[in-house]
Amino acid sequence: MQLRERPILVTGGAGFVGSNLVTRLVREGARVTVLDDLFTGRRENLPDGIAFVHGSVCDAALVERLVADHELTFHLAARNIVVSTRNPREDFETNIGGTLNVLLAARAAGNRRVVYTSSTSVYGNPRHLPINEDDHLSLLTPYAVSKLAGENYCMAFYESYDLPTTAVRYSNIFGPGQDPANPYCGVVAKFLESLLAGKAPVIHGDGNQSRDFTFIDDAVEATLLAGTSDRSLGEVFNVGTGVETRVNELAATLIALTGARVTASHTDRRDVDNIRRRVVNIEKTRRALRWVPEVTLEEGLKRTVEWQRARTTPAAARAGA
Ligand SMILES: NC(=O)c1ccc[n+]([C@@H]2O[C@H](COP(=O)([O-])OP(=O)(O)OC[C@H]3O[C@@H](n4cnc5c(N)ncnc54)[C@H](O)[C@@H]3O)[C@@H](O)[C@H]2O)c1
Repeated sequence: MQLRERPILVTGGAGFVGSNLVTRLVREGARVTVLDDLFTGRRENLPDGIAFVHGSVCDAALVERLVADHELTFHLAARNIVVSTRNPREDFETNIGGTLNVLLAARAAGNRRVVYTSSTSVYGNPRHLPINEDDHLSLLTPYAVSKLAGENYCMAFYESYDLPTTAVRYSNIFGPGQDPANPYCGVVAKFLESLLAGKAPVIHGDGNQSRDFTFIDDAVEATLLAGTSDRSLGEVFNVGTGVETRVNELAATLIALTGARVTASHTDRRDVDNIRRRVVNIEKTRRALRWVPEVTLEEGLKRTVEWQRARTTPAAARAGA
């Protein structure tokens, strides 16, 4: 599918993943509209040359109008896991209600294509590693419930109404654009913020919990393919790397890359940190979407450190320090 001149809507486009996706779409020549309520997203994250609508996916009439005006919708808008755990109703209204609005609008407009961004949170504590898409799911948080509900609605609309939908299950995405000032940002951005301020990164729990960390450019590529491939319709895809990394290892790598003279410290685990190990199988995504992650954790972290340094000390970065 050619993206040049195609009208594309990105909900949640001012956030971390969304703004990276939007930047890529603009580079591909697409005509992009972003719908975002700026809950965590920021207008400054967005490149020039796009249309920005400040509003919520909970506004059914607005969503209906916008979806109808675009051939393809990437639906990323969501309340995050921390907000969701604190306020499940808010999560329900945005993550489930907002997704239903997008799907109803896509159907009303004559079956527009929708890509939904789900989460590997739906696997909870897996029985086997690496995790396949059709493995047992265990929903340990209201966020996992709402992200899975969105996916299930996508698949039900595909089966019931032939609505062309695809879901991607992201695993711990990190990279440039993940703003440490966002109180809900991921662990990489948090550790890096501490290290660049000369402070020790604080690990919740013993640090032996593991995750599958995915570099943002790889996640964006998989998301684009999910929206353009003939083989993605009615399917759910893991987006990860197949590499398991313990949080202790992540902290050690970041300490080495930044050259900080600190050792990580530990504190109590948070209520949202109830998943011990996670690494996903990406074979289905590789075969169907012809996608492989290209950026190793170390390379991705290097690029993230450079980006974060340049933001913190623009003058130093310009001088090549
Ligand atoms: N970053 C990850 O590691 C990760 C992992 C799994 C799933 N996801 C999913 O990917 C998507 C993007 O996540 P992100 O990391 O970029 O988070 P983010 O918080 O940076 O982006 C979410 C965006 O949605 C917007 N938003 C929230 N509620 C909205 C509403 N009611 N109406 C319109 N906009 C709204 C926010 O302002 C923000 O710009 C989300 O659906 C998230 O569940 C992300």
